Amino acid sequence: MAKLSIIGAGAVGTAAAHWAAVKGVAEEIVLIDIVPDLAKGKALDIAQSAPVYGFSCRVWGTDDFAALRDSEVVILTAGRPRKPGMSREDLLRTNLEIVRSCAEEVKRYAPDCVLIVVTNPIDAMVYAAFRTTGFPRERVLGMAGVLDSARYRYFIAEALGVSPEDVQALVMGIHGDHMLPLVRLANVAGIPITELLPEEKIAEIVERTRKGGGEIVSYLKTGSAFTTPGLSAVEMAEAVLRDQKRVLTCSVWLEGEFGFSEVFIGVPVVLGRKGLERILTFELTEEERKALQASVEAVRKQMAITGL
Ligand code: NAI
Ligand code: 2OP
Repeated sequence: MAKLSIIGAGAVGTAAAHWAAVKGVAEEIVLIDIVPDLAKGKALDIAQSAPVYGFSCRVWGTDDFAALRDSEVVILTAGRPRKPGMSREDLLRTNLEIVRSCAEEVKRYAPDCVLIVVTNPIDAMVYAAFRTTGFPRERVLGMAGVLDSARYRYFIAEALGVSPEDVQALVMGIHGDHMLPLVRLANVAGIPITELLPEEKIAEIVERTRKGGGEIVSYLKTGSAFTTPGLSAVEMAEAVLRDQKRVLTCSVWLEGEFGFSEVFIGVPVVLGRKGLERILTFELTEEERKALQASVEAVRKQMAITGL
C-alpha cells in the first residue's frame, strides 16, 4: 500500500495533503507537525471532505514521527515561511535546525523513502537533508523548479491569452533572484515565444517569474504561497509513487552535469520509482551557462553557511 508522509502541517503541508488526497496519489497520507494536535486537526478536516469530493484514501495526522514508518515518499515542509522584506537567505539559519532534526527522523523511521524537501531556502535545505540523512542523491530532491516553471508558464499564457496547459517552459538554477527562466526553449504548442511576444514583454515575464514568490509574500503579508507549492510537491511525489518517468525540474545534487559538481541546483530530471532516475542535460548557450554559474555560486554561498 503506497504511503505518503508530509512533515509540517502549515500552509504548504496542508495544501500538499489536500492535493494528494484529491489526486489519489497514495492509499495512506500522514501529516506530521511538532505542534501537538495541529496535524491531527488539519488531517481530520481533509479526511472529512472524502464523502463530498469522493476519495477513499486514509488521511490522518500526528505529532509522532514514528508515523513515518513505511513511507515511500516523504515531503518535508517544516520551517518558517518568508515575511515581507525577508529574503530566502534570511530564513536559512532558522530553518536549518528544523530541517536537520526532521531529516534525522526521516533517516530513523523511513530509511528507504524518497525525500522531497520544500523548506526554504530550498537549495541549501535540500543539501542539509542530503548530508543529514546520508541518502543517495537519487532519493533527496528539492522542490522549486516545478513551481517556478508553473509561474513562468502561467505568465506567458496570460500575456498571450492562451491556455496555460499549452505553454511549455523551464526554469533552471537556484530558487531565488538568480533563477534562470529559459527563453530560448519556452514555447506555446511548439511555437517559440520569441516568435509570439516582443522582447520587452518577455523580459518583463522573466523578471516577474524571478520575483514570483516575493510578489505573493507582498500581498499575503503574513506568509508565502502555498497552493501551487503544495501541488508542485505532490506532482513530484506522484511521479515517484506511480513510477511515471515525468520530466520535472528539481533541485538535485550534480556530479558533473552541466559542468558543475557537488552542488544542489534546479535541472530537468526524470522522476520515477527510484526518485531521480536521470538528469536531462543539453547544451547551454554561453549566456545561459553564465547565468547558471551565477546560480551555482549563490547556492554555494548558502551551502557554506550550513557548515555541513
Ligand atoms: P507554515 O509556517 O505555515 O508551516 C510550517 C509548519 O512547520 C508549522 O506548522 C510548524 O509548526 C511546522 N514545524 C516547525 N518545526 C517543525 C519540526 N521540527 N517538526 C515538524 N514540524 C515543524 O509555513 P509554510 O507556508 O507551510 O511554508 C513552509 C516552508 O516551505 C517555508 O520554509 C517556506 O519558505 C517554504 N516554501 C518553499 C517553497 C519552494 O518553492 N521550495 C514554496 C513555498 C514555501
Ligand atoms: C515561493 O516562491 C516563498 O519560495 C516561496 O513562493
